Amino acid sequence: MSLLKHYVPLPNNLKLVPNLFTISMIKSFLIVICLVSSISLISFTPHFSNSNAVTNKLGNIKVTSKESIVVEEETNTSHILFGIGGSAKTWKNRSRYFGLWWRPNVTRGFVWLDEKPHENEPWTETSPYYRVSQDTSKFEYTCWFGDRSAVRIARIVKESFELGLTNVRWFVMGDDDTVFFTENLVAVLGKYDHNQMYYIGGNSENVEVNAGGSYNMAYGGGGIAISYPLAAELVKILDSCINRYHYLFASDQRIASCVAEIGVPLTKELGFHQMDMQGSPRGLLAAHPVAPLVSLHHLDVYIVHPLIPSMTQFDSIKKLIEPYKKDPSRTMQHTLCYDLNRNWSLSVSWGNSVQLYPWIMNANELGLPMQTFKSIIGSEEPFTFNTRPNYVEPCKRPIEYFLDQVVGLQNGETLTSYSTIIDNDSNKQCEKENYKGALAIHMVNVTAPILSPLVWRQAPRRQCCEVINGVGSELHIRIRSCNQWESVTAPFYDKYGDFAYFQRLI
Ligand SMILES: *[C@@H]1O[C@H](CO)[C@@H](O)[C@H](O)[C@H]1NC(C)=O
Ligand SMILES: *[C@@H]1O[C@H](CO)[C@@H](O)[C@H](O)[C@H]1NC(C)=O
Ligand SMILES: *[C@@H]1O[C@H](CO)[C@@H](O)[C@H](O)[C@H]1NC(C)=O
Ligand SMILES: *[C@@H]1O[C@H](CO)[C@@H](O)[C@H](O)[C@H]1NC(C)=O
Ligand SMILES: *[C@@H]1O[C@H](CO)[C@@H](O)[C@H](O)[C@H]1NC(C)=O
Ligand SMILES: *[C@@H]1O[C@H](CO)[C@@H](O)[C@H](O)[C@H]1NC(C)=O
Repeated sequence: MSLLKHYVPLPNNLKLVPNLFTISMIKSFLIVICLVSSISLISFTPHFSNSNAVTNKLGNIKVTSKESIVVEEETNTSHILFGIGGSAKTWKNRSRYFGLWWRPNVTRGFVWLDEKPHENEPWTETSPYYRVSQDTSKFEYTCWFGDRSAVRIARIVKESFELGLTNVRWFVMGDDDTVFFTENLVAVLGKYDHNQMYYIGGNSENVEVNAGGSYNMAYGGGGIAISYPLAAELVKILDSCINRYHYLFASDQRIASCVAEIGVPLTKELGFHQMDMQGSPRGLLAAHPVAPLVSLHHLDVYIVHPLIPSMTQFDSIKKLIEPYKKDPSRTMQHTLCYDLNRNWSLSVSWGNSVQLYPWIMNANELGLPMQTFKSIIGSEEPFTFNTRPNYVEPCKRPIEYFLDQVVGLQNGETLTSYSTIIDNDSNKQCEKENYKGALAIHMVNVTAPILSPLVWRQAPRRQCCEVINGVGSELHIRIRSCNQWESVTAPFYDKYGDFAYFQRLI
């Protein structure tokens, strides 16, 4: 799970270190590792336990032969109990992030601190209440490069469970520098039957981290969701289990190990973002997988640059929350657009950014993240997803636009506009003809219908996009669901331009 600082000698020792896992920041020779971090359709539950369980695509329907069907409410925010790993020391800097996503008296849960914060710490109305974790000094912790706060953070799920709060279906743990997109978290969790044992989250982006830690682990900063029945089993074994794994570095590793002892595997969801990287995350987030955006982590770690390069990280996230409030499901959804009159390709990350490539790139390539970042330890690869290069040559770079504003339209759709923010953009140095027209575009407007969270109950599919109007310095494009037989790529040409990365390799 999360927070606290764990110092790991870098990076030569990595191979020698048996348990790498979750990360957070690098200070010269140290990595400070921070771990930890619905729509639902209707479900019916039976009165009697010996029923035949029938699951259809709408959720969980259990039918008993002799009794009436009891309709259970869809999972909503009130069913989630958050347990955020924090510390009195980090509170001052990080509490402001709660103002972006925490809704007092709506979001349930606590920030768990190592000690009472100082009297004069900022404690605003929008902050969650805090609790001071139980003393864990009696627990074993023997990881020489780690910090025993990992024990405290691992026990948040237990301490949360033991509060005995009613109507909790899911325990969700995160870090105090994690922002959760709660509507989408609800949409994701609502897909699963909370009466069964589920362990849900995402891996690190770094192959090295997963290989050194585990692929079977929900990384704590990205978020760990544990259903009530699993939590009930977990809390029974957790304390003795924590002592068994005294040699592990991190809190989320402890949780993963103890959940594995119960025999429950990780259910991976692609919207949990641990953000184990250095540099700009904009390439990654411009090509978000077709899955709801659930979390972003490492927001208070300077090695992860702001989402919007001209802003601070805090202001970037604040900006992103504007479109998220209008259309949570569509936030950061990746759509590909082609202007076939001019042979332009556009990549839209809704509510976040747009890239314009003045040539045709196929969907396979345009769908990949541009590698604007390095791994958490500063290496170029590998990641748990494919990437394409972030070229330095001006004539190979896209023109980038970032969210400017979002407005609701009268027809119920949204209009988001994106503008160039870097006036001395290196693209200007490209003299090629195809760049001239593209550089004249200063704003891209995108209209889109609200995306129902119900789409996440269906097989995932990217939406389609068309250019409506491209006169002057503005480009207007529209996102919509695809028609039958419609492809998301441009009509096939034998040659996709000089810069088609994979073609070049052949
Ligand atoms: C969430 O579900 C509960 C039932 O468990 C219900 O009482 C409550 O009204 C729901 N809240 C919202 C905001 O729909
Ligand atoms: C809080 O933020 C300030 C300014 O960014 C930084 O200098 C300081 O080290 C941070 N403190 C902690 C505990 O992270
Ligand atoms: C939350 O609820 C408490 C108790 O009902 C109330 O005193 C407080 O004003 C509420 N806070 C907000 C921000 O609504
Ligand atoms: C677009 O590309 C096609 C195929 O390479 C080419 O025939 C056509 O002339 C191009 N159009 C423009 C405006 O460059
Ligand atoms: C503008 O260009 C200069 C010189 O190339 C560069 O140092 C600077 O970082 C650029 N500014 C931005 C916002 O990219
Ligand atoms: C694009 O959006 C901006 C800001 O929302 C608006 O001022 C402008 O008129 C729009 N342009 C077009 C062509 O829709």
